Amino acid sequence: MIATMEDFTKEEQRETGGDAYHAPVLPTEVLEALNPAPGKCFVDCTLGGGGHTGLLLEAGARVLGIDQDPEAIAHVTQRFARHGRFAGRFESFHSSFGAVPELLSKLKLTAVDGFLLDLGVSSHQLDTPERGFSFQRQGPLDMRMNPDSPVTAAHLVNTASAEQLERMFREYGEEPHARRIALKVTKERMVHPFQSTLELAAAVEAVSPRRGRTHPATRVFQALRIAVNRELEVLERTLEVLGSFLVPGGRLAVITFHSLEDRIAKQVFQRLSTPTLDRPEWPAPKPNPECIYTRITGKPRVASEQEQQRNPRSRSAKLRVVERLGLLRPLVARFRTHAPPQG
Ligand SMILES: C[S@@+](CC[C@H](N)C(=O)[O-])C[C@H]1O[C@@H](n2cnc3c(N)ncnc32)[C@H](O)[C@@H]1O
Repeated sequence: MIATMEDFTKEEQRETGGDAYHAPVLPTEVLEALNPAPGKCFVDCTLGGGGHTGLLLEAGARVLGIDQDPEAIAHVTQRFARHGRFAGRFESFHSSFGAVPELLSKLKLTAVDGFLLDLGVSSHQLDTPERGFSFQRQGPLDMRMNPDSPVTAAHLVNTASAEQLERMFREYGEEPHARRIALKVTKERMVHPFQSTLELAAAVEAVSPRRGRTHPATRVFQALRIAVNRELEVLERTLEVLGSFLVPGGRLAVITFHSLEDRIAKQVFQRLSTPTLDRPEWPAPKPNPECIYTRITGKPRVASEQEQQRNPRSRSAKLRVVERLGLLRPLVARFRTHAPPQG
């Protein structure tokens, strides 16, 4: 029996000579939050390298793994095919987690015991130059997590107006030199449209001074990735509806890596877990009709010193968890067509 993340990783390394696809962050905290056990069913909305899913499977649970990157799906399917003990308990789906309601409907599942969202890109995506996510590696300016989606980073950089680029860099990258960078990009692309990651990184660096150890292109690349994959709108829309698909006592765990996605998780969770509402003009507080959760993490959980040293990516990770209250589930219109639960 494999009891811990360390044991699991060691076994993987023995069997594969090292699985460097992605090291899951906050593994112990995720297990504590979701409390997997035989008979329970979870949806890993961001399968990635299958690190968290592996832990849930090890604990005997069933897992439906979703990723919009077909490479991740292929990798994990192959990885788990070797583990006979997971047979019949793992299925993977190439999809955006924005389509969870439709997916569960297709599977005739009305509710599950937990959802996990571990946001952003995997180490493998970041380390693969051809995907274009890294400003440190030469590659096409792509950044699509799903290669079937129509818009690449190059398309945005070469076609958006200076105002649109400025807003994108400011809102999605919180970039203080957004205007200066947008003007530089629109000027330079008239001579030579941007095609590669390093071309864009050099243009940013030319007008934006280096701050400490952070590369000047960090925020611009974050902004483009968010825009290309429409990350924030899909996240907000999804967090709004997942509660309708949780059993009473079921949990939703979200790991964020920057302030924009963390703010969305914090605000949605706050609104859906506030039991009463009050206004100065009301004689007394009223029950909040939207309240379907109780909050498990007041402050988000962060990685231990040890984990941060072992896995630098975990330094910016924040885990927020809510638990579904035992009330009747509010019905989502789309879900009314669902078959009743079996048995
Ligand atoms: C940080 S990695 C997840 C790592 C995983 N928890 C592990 O332990 O190996 C994030 C993954 O989520 C996927 N992803 C991001 N946004 C998504 C979305 N809207 N729908 C489906 N997958 C998404 C990315 O393609 C990436 O593979």
